[in-house]
Amino acid sequence: MNDLSKASALIDRENQYFADCGRIDYFDLVIDHAHDATLVDVDGNEYLDLLASASAINVGHTQEKVVNAITEQAKKLIHYTPAYFHHTPGIELAERLAKIAPGDSPKRVSFGLSGSDANDAIIKFSRAYTGRQYIVSFMGSYHGSTYGSMSLSGTSLNMTRKMGPMLPGVVHVPYPDLYRRLPGETEHDVAIRYFNSFKAPFESFLPADETACVLIEPIQGDGGIVKAPEEFMQLVYKFCHDNGILFAVDEVNQGLGRTGKMWGIEQYDNIEPDLMSVGKSIASGMPLSAVVGKKEIMESLDAPAHVFTTAANPVCVAASLATLDLLDENDLVTKSATDGKFAKAQFEALQKKHPMIGDIRMWGLNGGIEIVKDPETKEADSEAATKLIYYAFQHGVVMITLCGNILRFQPPLVITRDELTKAFKVLDDGMTAVENGTAKLPQTDGEIGW
Ligand SMILES: Cc1ncc(COP(=O)(O)O)c(C=O)c1O
Repeated sequence: MNDLSKASALIDRENQYFADCGRIDYFDLVIDHAHDATLVDVDGNEYLDLLASASAINVGHTQEKVVNAITEQAKKLIHYTPAYFHHTPGIELAERLAKIAPGDSPKRVSFGLSGSDANDAIIKFSRAYTGRQYIVSFMGSYHGSTYGSMSLSGTSLNMTRKMGPMLPGVVHVPYPDLYRRLPGETEHDVAIRYFNSFKAPFESFLPADETACVLIEPIQGDGGIVKAPEEFMQLVYKFCHDNGILFAVDEVNQGLGRTGKMWGIEQYDNIEPDLMSVGKSIASGMPLSAVVGKKEIMESLDAPAHVFTTAANPVCVAASLATLDLLDENDLVTKSATDGKFAKAQFEALQKKHPMIGDIRMWGLNGGIEIVKDPETKEADSEAATKLIYYAFQHGVVMITLCGNILRFQPPLVITRDELTKAFKVLDDGMTAVENGTAKLPQTDGEIGW
C-alpha cells in the first residue's frame, strides 16, 4: 500500500507555488476521489477516512443526492448575489435553518462562505445589539482565520505571531479540562474552579455591562474534543443572562449530527443560544456558512453590514438542502450517537491493552483520544501519537492529531460497522508497533500537525 510516486511528484510541483501558511502538514496524501467514508489517492491507494475533511463531510463523500442537487442547480443558476436579489434555494435554506436552530424563539439567518466569517458575524451582531464592545472567548478554541475569528481563537501561536495587533476588545478565559484535574477534584469542583476563572476578569478589569457576548464551542474541536461540564456551561449561561451578555455558540465543527445530537449545544440541558455559527458540513464541504440568531438581535444591523457577493451561492445552498435531507432520511444523528458508543467501547478495549491511551472523550462519532507517556502522570506523548497516525496512514486509515498528542476521530457519519472494525484493527496493530519500536516517524523537514 501507499505507492506514493505520483503523489510525491505532484507535491513537489505544488511546493513551488502553494504558500506554507495554508496547510498544516501531516502526510503526502493527494486525494483523487472519495465516496462515503473511503478516499482514493492519485496512486490508487484506498484509505478509510476518520477525519471527514475536518468534520465537513458528515453525510459522507459524494453522496448521490448531494451530487445531483449540485449538478441540477448548476445547470439552472450558478450564482446571483444575495446582496441585491433573491433565489428560491436561499429562501428555502434560510427558513429551514431558522426552524431547526435550537430553541423556540423566532430566528433570522445571515449567510457567508466560511465558519470564520460566521464567527465575525457574531462579533458584529452582538456589538450592534448590545451597544457594548467586549467579547469573551476561550483558550484552546478555534474560531477561524479571518481577523475577527482569529482574534477570538486561542489555540496556536502561529495564528497571532507576526500579524498583530488582533481585534481589540477580546478577552480569553480558560476552558474546563476534566482530564487534567487537580488531585481529589470532583467534576463539580472542576466546574466551580473554572467558573471562578471565568468570572475573574469581570471582577478585576472587564466591566460586565460593557461585555457584548460570550462565544463558546459546546465541545472544543481543535482544542482536543473537550466538553465542558454541564454545571460550568449552565453557570456561564446564567451569568450571561443575569448581566445582559449574549450567549453565542460555535457549531461549525460540532454541529449537524457530529456529537450524536443535531447541535453540539444540545449536549447540555435547555440552552437556547442567542447566536450560533454554522459551517463545514452544512453544505457537505461546499463553501457556505450561516449565523443564526434571535430575530431581534439579527435585526440590529442594516445592509450592507454583513454582505458577501458570493454568499448563499445557489449551488452550495442546493448541496446544503440535500445534505439536511440526508441527515434526516438516514437518521444520521441517531447513527452518530449509536456508533459513537460502539467506537467508544472499541477505544476502551484498546485502552486495556495499550496504556498509551490516557483519556477517551467521545460524544457521537466524535472523539479525542489522549496519547500519553504514562496514564498516571498524563504527560502528553506527541511522538507516539505521530508514529501511530503515520502507521495508520501507511495501512490505509487517515487520522490526524490535535494538540500534538490527541487522536482526532471524526469519520463521516455514514461509516459502516465493518469499516470501523477495520480501522480499530489498524489502530490496535499501530499501537503495538509503537510499543515494540517498529512504528516510525514520518520523514519530514519539520514537525507534523498543529
Ligand atoms: C469550531 C470552528 N469554528 C470555526 C471554524 C472555521 O471555519 P472555516 O475554516 O470554514 O472558516 C472551524 C474550522 O476548523 C472550527 O472548527
